[in-house]
Amino acid sequence: MTDNRHRRATRLLGLLATGLCAAGLLTAPTAQAADPTPLRELAAAAGIHVGNGIEAAPLASIPAYEAIVGREYEAVTPGNEMKWGSVEPTRGQYNWGPADQIVAYAEANDQIVRGHTLVWHSQQPNWLTSGNFTPAQLRTILSEHIAVQAGRYEGRVYAWDVVNEPFNENGSYRGTIWYDNLGVDYIADSLRWARAADPGAKLYINDYNIEGINAKSNALYNLAVELLAAGVPLDGIGIQGHIIIGQVPSTFAANMQRFADLGLDVAITELDIRMQLPVTDAKLQTQAADYRSVFQSCIAVDGCIGVTVWGVTDGLSWIPDTFPGEGAALMHDAQYRPKPAWNSVYQLLGGTPPEEPGEPGNGTCAVRYSVADQWNNGFTGAITVANPGTTAIDGWELSWTFSSGQSVTNGWNGTWSQSGSTVRVTNAAWNRAIAPGGNVTLGFNASHSGTNPAPGTFTLNGTACTSQ
Ligand code: G3I
Repeated sequence: MTDNRHRRATRLLGLLATGLCAAGLLTAPTAQAADPTPLRELAAAAGIHVGNGIEAAPLASIPAYEAIVGREYEAVTPGNEMKWGSVEPTRGQYNWGPADQIVAYAEANDQIVRGHTLVWHSQQPNWLTSGNFTPAQLRTILSEHIAVQAGRYEGRVYAWDVVNEPFNENGSYRGTIWYDNLGVDYIADSLRWARAADPGAKLYINDYNIEGINAKSNALYNLAVELLAAGVPLDGIGIQGHIIIGQVPSTFAANMQRFADLGLDVAITELDIRMQLPVTDAKLQTQAADYRSVFQSCIAVDGCIGVTVWGVTDGLSWIPDTFPGEGAALMHDAQYRPKPAWNSVYQLLGGTPPEEPGEPGNGTCAVRYSVADQWNNGFTGAITVANPGTTAIDGWELSWTFSSGQSVTNGWNGTWSQSGSTVRVTNAAWNRAIAPGGNVTLGFNASHSGTNPAPGTFTLNGTACTSQ
């Protein structure tokens, strides 16, 4: 499906739903705590898709992460799994497993995939960067790489970030193994090779710090004009959107519009809005307004087809590693609780958030905690997790904090882990589902050093539970 067809189809779906609601045939989205409308449905009704940059490992191992990705997002981008260093760490030996896993997951969950990325200066394999290849050899290697990778996923990837980050901040071309050896033609050639390998995929150039009108986005604009005039298959511009709170450029919408006016699609591909830590309510409110404004800009520009957020949770974001002292850039916090940013986007798209972020207890879980046995430096704990709601819980992660240094030594009826004072238990295969009115029981042994207070709040899949 083309981007425009995709956008028209999602708009039509939204109008249809609105009409059916008006006719009393469909229930309009409500604030029911147990079953709020997925974000992807609200976004589709507004004519855009909402996506997430995900990773294969947490998708497979963290139920709370998987639950958010599968339910809320219509598009997924592999965060690392399709980069050259991941797929071909040794020349000629391919590692497709993690990328395949994400593509299969997307297909099973009715999601589109943004392929990321075919040509980049970063995360390239060592055999390539230290191979001392001639320009002619590099050209062959690059064309083969694109043919193999885009060919492998032909028909299964909605769009490719064909060339990633080709510009410097001042608008000059970034010196890379590709630019330095092949000249600027590597961009047009890569787009042509990608079109040959997957004629149905939308082909993008993707970059950061091009949100507003500036030297870098001007250079990309001029390149786009040249490529289109030369008949090069360029379909879209990816605006990454790695932003600092309070600094969403005022020219964001106008900048997207000028690319759209060339007939190109525009996508916001890696949105995160970081802040200096620690987190405060005021910063979260600024961030919420910023997220809202970015989504609003996309909705306002007809050629903007979607917004992809670069990660699920503040606990698994690239920001703290790259910008020490900064973080909290995403829409769910490290405990998978929706933040004000989530609620502001949800409301912008016409939804009613089920609860204020961080408020305890929305009726979806109730926990009973007891110490079954205790001795001088250890104890045995028992936990019952009940589902007092009206819909089944399918896949769960329970977490809590031990405030006095207690440390779990072994646990049963789930997969247990502890990091610092935070304990996490994810379901076993056989107790994944908790029916309405049902419960699961857990137990563990732990050490303590004299005092052993009960945990304050238990959180299930990012929602604080009531205590029994
Ligand atoms: O997989 C290894 C793991 O085995 C090892 O223990 C660990 C130790 O540091 O590293 C893990 O690899 C990390 C990888 O992410 C997977 O999480 C790399 O060190 C780390 O460098 C890598 O960072 C990625 C970064 O690109 C690399 O430049 C981020 O996850 C990814 O989100 C980020 O994404 C880029 C986009 O592709 C392009 N635009 C900018 C954006 C942010 O840098």
